[in-house]
Amino acid sequence: MKIYVLASAIVVLLLSIFLRYRLNPNRGLDIAVADLLVTNAFIYTGDRSLPYADSMAIRNGRILRVGNYSSLQELEGHGTEKLNLDGKVVVPGFIDSHVHLISGGLLMAQVELRAGDTKDEFIGKVKAAVKSKKHGSWIVGGGWNNDLWGGELPMASWIDDITPHNPVWLSRMDGHMGLANSLALRIAGITHDMKDPQGGTIVRTSNEDPTGLLIDSAMDLVLASIPEVSTDERREALLRASSYALENGVTTVVDFGRYFPGSSTELSWKDYTDVYQWADSSKNMMIRVCLFFPMETWSRLVDLMHTRGRVLSQWIYLGGVKAFADGSLGSNSALFYESYADDPENYGLNVTDLDILFNMTAASDNSGLQVAIHAIGDRANDLILDVYKSVASTNGMRDRRFRVEHAQHLKPGTPARFGVQKIVPSVQPEHLLYDADSAIKKLGEGRAEKESYLFRSLLSSNAELAFGSDWPVADIDPLCSIKTAMKRIPLKWEASWIPSECLTVIDALDSHTISAARACFLDHDIGSLSPGKLADFVILSTDSWDTFTKEASTHVEATYVGGIKAYPSKDVI
Ligand SMILES: *[C@@H]1O[C@H](CO)[C@@H](O)[C@H](O)[C@H]1NC(C)=O
Ligand SMILES: *[C@@H]1O[C@H](CO)[C@@H](O)[C@H](O)[C@H]1NC(C)=O
Ligand SMILES: *[C@@H]1O[C@H](CO)[C@@H](O)[C@H](O)[C@H]1NC(C)=O
Repeated sequence: MKIYVLASAIVVLLLSIFLRYRLNPNRGLDIAVADLLVTNAFIYTGDRSLPYADSMAIRNGRILRVGNYSSLQELEGHGTEKLNLDGKVVVPGFIDSHVHLISGGLLMAQVELRAGDTKDEFIGKVKAAVKSKKHGSWIVGGGWNNDLWGGELPMASWIDDITPHNPVWLSRMDGHMGLANSLALRIAGITHDMKDPQGGTIVRTSNEDPTGLLIDSAMDLVLASIPEVSTDERREALLRASSYALENGVTTVVDFGRYFPGSSTELSWKDYTDVYQWADSSKNMMIRVCLFFPMETWSRLVDLMHTRGRVLSQWIYLGGVKAFADGSLGSNSALFYESYADDPENYGLNVTDLDILFNMTAASDNSGLQVAIHAIGDRANDLILDVYKSVASTNGMRDRRFRVEHAQHLKPGTPARFGVQKIVPSVQPEHLLYDADSAIKKLGEGRAEKESYLFRSLLSSNAELAFGSDWPVADIDPLCSIKTAMKRIPLKWEASWIPSECLTVIDALDSHTISAARACFLDHDIGSLSPGKLADFVILSTDSWDTFTKEASTHVEATYVGGIKAYPSKDVI
């Protein structure tokens, strides 16, 4: 009896080995078969041990092997999908080191009418906005300028038939008047019989019916009816923002929460629980996020990390905490050694008391959290480097990767301090497109030239740059950011601003990929196309690496996350 059992067991075993082998004739039993084999590409891996390759094998969402085709052929089996790229350039998925993801997604849903030059464009933009909205939810936007189409003021009747189920509010560019559609007027209780409020006008037709236009204090009648953003809207904002990121080749973002100061503390945590946890558990995450929380709440993050660990899933990583040293250049609140050229009494602001900042940083760091502090002015940057130095000496040596967010204006000796103290400058190249003229005005030409956006100086000082956009402050567009770091040509300029600070394409690419990954402790999983890492990569439209390295003019053709095509999505193509 026993012998039969044994014999049949052996037969079953041999049969199953034989069948497996038959199904995968190319496959040795010890070799994993690739799910996806990318071939005939120009791959920049970002991995110094093998910077360039033509093929890449992927299995279970991770990179199996990178190399030339002949070295990968043995990984091909029956189930392997092959992707021949005709020589196109492939780079690691971009990491945006500084975004406000949900705020960005919310703003996307608002109707941006600034570029609308005609009545038709105005109506067309509202029509487009309706498509992505559920019945009943508000459509809010602004920026219109009736002078662009000859002066005629818009009326509710322009948009009523395309917005029967959504109340609409669109403010004029100057913020002194706005247009409500008829549904919004009804919700706000604005009728034929209502009198104009003190300090405001309800614009009316010859029959005394409201046209939808409200001036000054009359606008409050509608504004009071627009609800706070709901959880559903914040969830939709995340999905919208994620799709947009993928369109631009971004596969991971470092999210700093809401970008409106004040309400941000609680909102960042509510976004974590209501939006991110929902998206993760309902399989709605599309990009990877590394979350930073307001530094005042550091102990809450420590508790969360103790219970959940740092890696919540393949989509959500808990990052660290963030605080503010100063304000912004635009509002003359960035902190400088010298006063503002256009405001000679003003040196800017210490946004957070330095003793409190030191205590919070020391406590967060002592609990193992990564710390990021916003500093724009030269003085603020030095003060934060001082804080970081004394915290490091108080708490002792460790790999802590302190970050300075923006590091925009630096005194000549400061880039070297970033290198020596191993501080990450988390910088936004795209800001220089808009900031150059304003920096020259506010700091004076000489000062602005010496200390603005010193990317090359920072790299030469052995600091590792992490690139980001600060979206929605600037667009989330790494290829634009890379090109800007290479060319430094501000809007409406012909020449580079501070050409000695231009970067090479490799330095700029690395700052948006592998260096950005190290800057948020994710380099074990992402940032380069190396065996074992997640298969996040971008296919560019160009098939000429040489042209790309000179011009950086190309666009994203496809974005893969975990080896799966995420952009363009299947229903788009
Ligand atoms: C392909 O790659 C392998 C391993 O890196 C190398 O040994 C081989 O010479 C390469 N072949 C060609 C044709 O480049
Ligand atoms: C900012 O703080 C530093 C250090 O405490 C102090 O020396 C400086 O005067 C403060 N600047 C302003 C504008 O408050
Ligand atoms: C910072 O911490 C020290 C030591 O715990 C304490 O004495 C001091 O009051 C704290 N300072 C502030 C501003 O919280």
